[in-house]
Amino acid sequence: MAEKLSWEDFKDLKGHDKKDYFLKDGKIFHVILPQQFDRNYLDDLCDLTTKIKKIDATITGRRFLKSLLNDKEAILYFTQPSTRTYLSFNTACDKLGITHGGVRDAKMSSEMKGESPEDSVITASQYCDLIIMRSPIEDLAEKMAFKMNSSKQQTPIINAGSGKDQHPTQALLDVYTWGQAFNDYEGIDGTSIAFVGDLKRGRTVRSLAYLMKNYKDVCLYFVAPKELQVEPDLKVYLREHEIPFEEHDSLEDVISKVDVVYMTRIQDEYDSGGESIQIDYDKFRFKPEYLAKIKSSTVIMHPLPRRKTQELPEIIDDDRRAIYWEQTKNGMFVRMALISSIFGKDNDILNY
Ligand code: NCD
Repeated sequence: MAEKLSWEDFKDLKGHDKKDYFLKDGKIFHVILPQQFDRNYLDDLCDLTTKIKKIDATITGRRFLKSLLNDKEAILYFTQPSTRTYLSFNTACDKLGITHGGVRDAKMSSEMKGESPEDSVITASQYCDLIIMRSPIEDLAEKMAFKMNSSKQQTPIINAGSGKDQHPTQALLDVYTWGQAFNDYEGIDGTSIAFVGDLKRGRTVRSLAYLMKNYKDVCLYFVAPKELQVEPDLKVYLREHEIPFEEHDSLEDVISKVDVVYMTRIQDEYDSGGESIQIDYDKFRFKPEYLAKIKSSTVIMHPLPRRKTQELPEIIDDDRRAIYWEQTKNGMFVRMALISSIFGKDNDILNY
C-alpha cells in the first residue's frame, strides 16, 4: 500500500516514486506517467495488443471484444485539440462495448461559468467507470488520479496528453510500433533513434524518451534547433539511468546511422509571441533525398499531425519505411489493450 500523502508532498515526488499511487490491487489502474511502466508491463501490453489485433480480424472475434466491457461507461474529457488520440480512444471504447460521452471543448462546459477544471473532472467521475482526459494543465490528470484514490468514486484516469509535459499512451503505441518494426531482430533493444524537431515543447518525445530506461543498449539522438532542444529535467533523468544520448542541430548529421527517425512538428501553439516563425526549420525537415541515405531497415515515425510543407512532405508516405500510419492504427489497438487490462480483462483476451 502506498503511504498516504498530501497532494503538495505527492506532486514533488519523482515520477518513479509515484507509481504505487497509480496501482490498484497491484495492477496499473491510473495511466499518468511513462515512469510508472516497467519492462514486464510493456512486453505484456504489446503481446495483448497483438492478440487483440488478431481477434479483431474476424467477425466472431469482434463480437467477443464488444461483449467484454459492455457494462462500462467512459467519459472523454478533452480540452485541448485532438484528432488521433480522441478518435482512437473513442473507437477503442466502441470496440470493447464501452458506452461513452464527453467534453471536447471547455468553452461548451461549465468552465465558461467559472467552474474549475478539477470540478469538471470530479463531475465526470460521478457518471462513469473510466475518465480519459487531455488538458493543457500539466498536472491535472495526475492530480485527479491522486484525488480519485481517496474519493468514493475511485474512477481510473488515463492521461491522453498533459500540456507540454507527457503523453504516455502515445509512448505506448510508439514502443509497440517500433518493436514490431524490429521484430525480426531484437526488438527495440540495441537500436538507435533520432528525435527531430521541437523537443522542448513536444510531449510525445519526452514520454517516449522516459520509457527508454526499460530497453537495453538504446542510443538517443536529439536533433533540434538550439532554442527547442530537450529540457534539462529529461537530460538529468537519462543520465541517472545511464541512457546514452547526443544533441545535434542538423538531421543530416545522423540520418544515415539511426534505426528510427522520429519526426515531430513545431509546437507553435505554445509560442508566447510568434517566436517559432523566426526559426529556420530546414535542417529539421525530412528531405526526399534522405530516403537514399537511411538504412534499408530504418523506419520513419511521426506521432502526427504533421506539417507537409515543414517537417515531413507527403511524398515520403510512399516509402515502405514510413510507418506513421501504422502508428496511428496501432494507437487504437494499444488503447484497447490498456483499457481491457485496467478492467482485468487481459486474461479473457489471452485465453480467447
Ligand atoms: C501529438 C500530441 O498531441 O502531443 N499528437 C498526438 O497525440 N498524436 C503530437 C502533436 O500534437 O504534435
